[in-house]
Amino acid sequence: MNKIALVTGGSRGIGAAAAKLLAARGYDICISYRERKSAADAVLDALRAHAVRAIAVQADIALEEDVQRLFRAVDGQLGPLTALVNNAGMLSQQCRVEQMSAQRINRILQTNVTGTLLCCREAIKRMSTRHGGNGGAIVNVSSGAARSGSPNEYVDYAASKGAVDTLTVGLSKEVAREGIRVNGVRPGFIATEMHSDGGEPNRIERLAPLIPLARGGQPEEVAGAIAWLLSDEAAYATGTFIDTTGGL
Ligand SMILES: NC(=O)c1ccc[n+]([C@@H]2O[C@H](COP(=O)([O-])OP(=O)(O)OC[C@H]3O[C@@H](n4cnc5c(N)ncnc54)[C@H](OP(=O)(O)O)[C@@H]3O)[C@@H](O)[C@H]2O)c1
Repeated sequence: MNKIALVTGGSRGIGAAAAKLLAARGYDICISYRERKSAADAVLDALRAHAVRAIAVQADIALEEDVQRLFRAVDGQLGPLTALVNNAGMLSQQCRVEQMSAQRINRILQTNVTGTLLCCREAIKRMSTRHGGNGGAIVNVSSGAARSGSPNEYVDYAASKGAVDTLTVGLSKEVAREGIRVNGVRPGFIATEMHSDGGEPNRIERLAPLIPLARGGQPEEVAGAIAWLLSDEAAYATGTFIDTTGGL
């Protein structure tokens, strides 16, 4: 059976690194992105260099119709999905809770929580033996923020990742007997553009002295954990997490 993976937010950062590693391991890949087509196209070139099939689909995971269109594209262009990496996620400008608008909070929750759940839903419909599927594996990209709570930076984002952890545990039990494993990774401070979105491009340098390994991480160091959790080597792991946080 072909290994077919969907990596949401695979156009940059951790998602791009995960997609490249999975392509190197023989997966056909769909990456999704929200708006930066040129970044997605550059990743596609790297994926196809591994002689696998690769497609990129624009889809905002916060929108149900986009998620459904994304999964239909995988069905039609690649075939039955065997692996889902729920990587797409966002945060907003650093601030305290008393400065947060409902609009900001809802946008983060809609993307990180609703979007992740919708993608899980569509994957289960295709993978579950209950629905005639052949099983599969899901990895949800959470964050060390789920444990730290990110005070003074983005408590809303941290709360959304706490929800991702909880849904990972619940869903893993719900579908364990239907051939699907569901696990999570919790990255720490990883060198991507996300920190600029929070308004502090040099955030990792500021925080590195607090990290036991005394440095930030690279996207590839998270990708390895994702690929392992998807692989048969992790066949007896479900409902669990790998923290790639440098010891924090
Ligand atoms: N970097 C870290 O230190 C860190 C730490 C802990 C957890 N994480 C988590 O790791 C994941 C990836 O983070 P990253 O640092 O690699 O982020 P990034 O560099 O900002 O890349 C984000 C990716 O997600 C896509 N995306 C964002 N919102 C989307 C939406 N609503 N619908 C579809 N795609 C969307 C982006 O697409 P476009 O390019 O089109 O915008 C991009 O491909 C996130 O879930 C994040 O919370 C990151």
